[in-house]
Amino acid sequence: MLRFKENISLKPYNTFGIETQTKYFYEVSNTIELKKILEINKNLPFRILGGGSNILFTEDFEGLTLLIANKGKSVLKETSKTVTVEVQAGENWHEFVIWCLNHNYGGIENLALIPGSVGAAPIQNIGAYGVELASVFKSCRALNIKTLKEEVIFKKDCEFSYRSSIFKNHQKGRYIIISVCFQLKKPPHHLNIDYGTLNTYFERKTLNIQEIAAAVIEIRESKLPNPKTLGNCGSFFKNPLISKSHFKLLKETYPELPFYPAYDKQLKIPAAWLIDQLGFKGTQHGGAGVHKDQALVLVNLNAAKGKEVLELARKIQSSVKNTFNINLETEVNIL
Ligand code: EPU
Repeated sequence: MLRFKENISLKPYNTFGIETQTKYFYEVSNTIELKKILEINKNLPFRILGGGSNILFTEDFEGLTLLIANKGKSVLKETSKTVTVEVQAGENWHEFVIWCLNHNYGGIENLALIPGSVGAAPIQNIGAYGVELASVFKSCRALNIKTLKEEVIFKKDCEFSYRSSIFKNHQKGRYIIISVCFQLKKPPHHLNIDYGTLNTYFERKTLNIQEIAAAVIEIRESKLPNPKTLGNCGSFFKNPLISKSHFKLLKETYPELPFYPAYDKQLKIPAAWLIDQLGFKGTQHGGAGVHKDQALVLVNLNAAKGKEVLELARKIQSSVKNTFNINLETEVNIL
């Protein structure tokens, strides 16, 4: 008989530390259990939860929250140059990065300290310091919610782009990711240190993947609040893409506007800069606020309600729209 918990608080399960309730809750430790639970509860609305690090709860949930907690890593294939590893969705992302560093497997050292689970990583194609998950992703196993059959989905079908994939777009809600296959590199590693702050940090010394991870951890810890001490979900918004003509127009008023080249002849603008210009950094709205060191991060300063975080986000979005004519999209899922 499967065990449910009833009427529990989701506060320990979201890094924003928002207090909300779920009517039913179940921690899933394997696929058989997952299928069984979905079969039994066909008519109950359900939600999937991983590390809870990219989610903003704005109200209580009358359905079933499924915490994906299946664990395990296995090496599927090894050559002299590469290794293919399958990791279960419920594994913690950063612990997997550390495991790779200990085995000297390269490819995800720049993604150290990103909060969340392995299963959630492909959904928004996590990225940092010049590297995206897509660069090491091979395939994933996912449960099709309609058929309750497992499918293998290969990289070419995931349509990865900046903080996005099919799992966030047209296939949203169709799959539950069960495990992810990564292709990692053995030495000699290709080292990615082109990203601004990393490049300055190293000034092109000879390096290894362990030193890169240590630098990324140090930079992240200096800028991004630790969710264990100050609730947050990392970047709340995506960095917007704008056309060259729009950029030219803005540059007349804001000559210092920073940018990075992006896909399709567009330019990527740091949302943090826009929010900072508007004076939001360090401000408070109810229990919510904008982090004092990184304007892109919304924080839970004092028992914030999900709705207060959302109001603050909406205020920032309309201010950015009015001043820069730019639409800021949220990176965090709002529920
Ligand atoms: N800036 C400001 N004010 C601030 C912070 C930054 O003006 O308060 C400007 C500076 O010009 C700075 C630029 O914004 O050079 C970029 O800042 P940063 O290097 O901190 O990166 P970001 O664009 O704010 C992105 C990711 C982060 C990732 C870092 C490093 C997105 C939405 N965010 O942030 O990802 O760690 O680059 O690669 O793409 C996350 O997704 O949760 C996340 C933290």
